[in-house]
Amino acid sequence: MTNTQDRVFIFDTTLRDGEQSPGATMTHAEKLDIAAMLDEMGVDIIEAGFPIASEGDFEAVSAIAKQSKNSVICGLSRANFKDIDRCWEAVKHAARPRIHTFIGTSPLHRAIPNLDKDQMAERIHDTVTHARNLCDNVQWSPMDATRTEHDYLCRVVEIAIKAGATTINIPDTVGYTAPRESADLIRMLLERVPGADEIIFATHCHNDLGMATANSLAAVEAGARQIECTINGLGERAGNTALEEVVMALKVRNDIMPYRTGVDSTRLTAISRKVATVSGFPVQFNKAIVGKNAFAHESGIHQDGMLKNAETFEIMRPADVGLTETSLVMGKHSGRAALRSKLKDLGYEVADNQLADIFVRFKALADRKKEIYDEDLLALVQEAGTQAAYDGLQIKRLRVVCGTEGPQEAQLTLTVDGEDKTAEATGDGPVDAAFNAVNMLVDHTATLALYQVQAITEGTDAQATVTVRLEEDGKIATGHAADTDTVVASARAYVNALNRLILRRQKTAPGHDTKAVSYRDAG
Ligand code: KIV
Ligand code: ZN
Repeated sequence: MTNTQDRVFIFDTTLRDGEQSPGATMTHAEKLDIAAMLDEMGVDIIEAGFPIASEGDFEAVSAIAKQSKNSVICGLSRANFKDIDRCWEAVKHAARPRIHTFIGTSPLHRAIPNLDKDQMAERIHDTVTHARNLCDNVQWSPMDATRTEHDYLCRVVEIAIKAGATTINIPDTVGYTAPRESADLIRMLLERVPGADEIIFATHCHNDLGMATANSLAAVEAGARQIECTINGLGERAGNTALEEVVMALKVRNDIMPYRTGVDSTRLTAISRKVATVSGFPVQFNKAIVGKNAFAHESGIHQDGMLKNAETFEIMRPADVGLTETSLVMGKHSGRAALRSKLKDLGYEVADNQLADIFVRFKALADRKKEIYDEDLLALVQEAGTQAAYDGLQIKRLRVVCGTEGPQEAQLTLTVDGEDKTAEATGDGPVDAAFNAVNMLVDHTATLALYQVQAITEGTDAQATVTVRLEEDGKIATGHAADTDTVVASARAYVNALNRLILRRQKTAPGHDTKAVSYRDAG
């Protein structure tokens, strides 16, 4: 019986469900990097994207399938042959491919394609059979399962199993369920559906009521053996179950939840930071496991207890999640070899050309900043890795006059496709002035959808990481930059976002081979 095994499979959907968060769009290279990290840290299944959604998604899933070493690579498809065929074309390159197909089974979701119960049952039979004829690893999901009538849910799960599904995922698409109900649902399916003990049940929870992780763990206690989750809980609306939370909960409370995952928890901090940077969704300070304050102790009583015995106030060690003691050993006299070895300690093996780029940034930072912390180095690596594939716009020089007497002024020299252009602008604050100067030199109609600044270490010379998200004609582009000068970081992040927007414009221009379809119906 599958539900007596203690091994729980971790299915990461950061690159599919996570990337569906409005604005969290990632580049091809970023997706490949994240997939490689997930693969190396022992994630069992990576849902790499939704191949029919766009040419970009198809290419990303295919490339991830080709590069994957250990993980099963899965793609999502709706319940039709065209989607499933496209999904197979992308995942078939993987050593261990999986097709995931889904359809909404609750009354509200059945109404959308206007199928009655029998018609939908037939569609499920036909599409799962088709997927299974292509691939021997097929996952099927009744979307909005937690609001589907129990008798109908049992009926369609049985049909999917008979048609060849090897994993049945039970999504709480709208984050509506609660732990006891989540467990009861899995138990009910295991008891009532013929063949249920031959397959793996998965749990896929959204966090609308803040119960996603609890609901996922309750489902495991009832017999589910695959948890679907995302790094940092990224995902539409309130997000999904957070991978780092379930992995650590199962590790720390193995006494009452005797199940194991294959994930190396010491990689959690590095991947959390990477996803925060590339998605533009920073991790809240008090976020469980990976938040900046997760291991910080402020009050006297806590600090005193910690000094006597760390277990007084810590249920896991910082090292368990890959948090190294902040060290100050790197400085302006450090060489390339030291930088390479330090980055390796932080979980980054960089190629020679990347190292050269990071080294230049590192030296420039070391000239300006007394102490280089691990967080500073991570920001440099992440910034180097998030440069847009098109970088025709580059800030050459920026000078800003600011103070109590406005308006603030910015003088900017911007290199535009190799040619230097200069502008002077005023604004309501130095950042506004700098953005206005950029706008005088770059033709666009984008609106600012997000502007976010975060100091990555303490001290007045701390680097600020800035995220800027722009929206133009439905296209969203996110830029990032880090600098000890917040205004410079802001202007660079703005220009980085514009570079991405221009790239996106080019890719979606008439004649460019892009077949975008709407897939907002996937939760
Ligand atoms: O939340 C959901 O129902 C989904 C499905 C596509 C599995 O993401
Ligand atoms: Zn979902």
